[in-house]
Amino acid sequence: MNDPPPNRYRTGRLIGVGVGPGDPGNLTLRAIRAIKEADLVIAPCSSTDTEGRAESIVRNALPEVSCQRIIFDMSPGETGTQARVRGAREAALGLHGPLCEGKTIAFVTLGDPNVFSTFSLVAKEVAHLSPETEIRTIPGIMAFQEVASMGGLNLLDETEKLFLVTAREGTEDLDEALGSPNAAIVIYKGGRHLQEIKAALDMAGRLKGAVVGEMLGLEGETISDLDTVTAQRLSYLATVIAPPLRKPEPATD
Ligand SMILES: C[S@@+](CC[C@H](N)C(=O)[O-])C[C@H]1O[C@@H](n2cnc3c(N)ncnc32)[C@H](O)[C@@H]1O
Repeated sequence: MNDPPPNRYRTGRLIGVGVGPGDPGNLTLRAIRAIKEADLVIAPCSSTDTEGRAESIVRNALPEVSCQRIIFDMSPGETGTQARVRGAREAALGLHGPLCEGKTIAFVTLGDPNVFSTFSLVAKEVAHLSPETEIRTIPGIMAFQEVASMGGLNLLDETEKLFLVTAREGTEDLDEALGSPNAAIVIYKGGRHLQEIKAALDMAGRLKGAVVGEMLGLEGETISDLDTVTAQRLSYLATVIAPPLRKPEPATD
């Protein structure tokens, strides 16, 4: 019998690995396994000489793993978006060679890789450039889950709803959510617009009970009742939660 033809083309794998918002204890066993088994671990950062948040989580949990950094511009606005798309394209170009060699690449990302993540941009560019690549994700604990947990919030019950909005450019996306009193509202990327967020929640009677978590699991971590925060603005890594408006429990004897 003839030998089978040599495997001239092996398909690489790109895995988006969610590492949670900050505390290395939030890494799942699946995430740890994927990172350890990967041929290459890629981590986004703002400059190659600065460790990104996802990389620092990996280093704290798995000091033996070294990450290769990929630059992503996180500036707001149109310029920032264009820079991120450009960054994703360059990342995909850099990953093309290892993927064609059949390597498995773990791309580590804050929180979950399918929720407002740089991974989805990279995955799109990789699918375009290296269509044979198998692309998968491993879910991670999302920032708002950590805020709800640390803030002692029962986020949703019965038939309540959840809005997850961003406020990077302002509070416009809050309006629809504020029209639903029985919905919890999670606000990502709103650190620069903290005052507007507070004012909008206050107008809707939703400021009391709202909580903000900043830099959770990382150096400088804070969790506070939003109405007590005096800072004009917070960092990019701040998450606000306004729980649903609930009727007070009837008094029991
Ligand atoms: C690009 S999104 C990443 C979301 C992430 N993929 C997730 O699943 O939660 C960035 C936003 O997530 C929130 N965030 C991420 N990490 C956080 C942390 N450690 N503490 C507070 N908020 C965080 C902030 O609202 C931040 O602006």
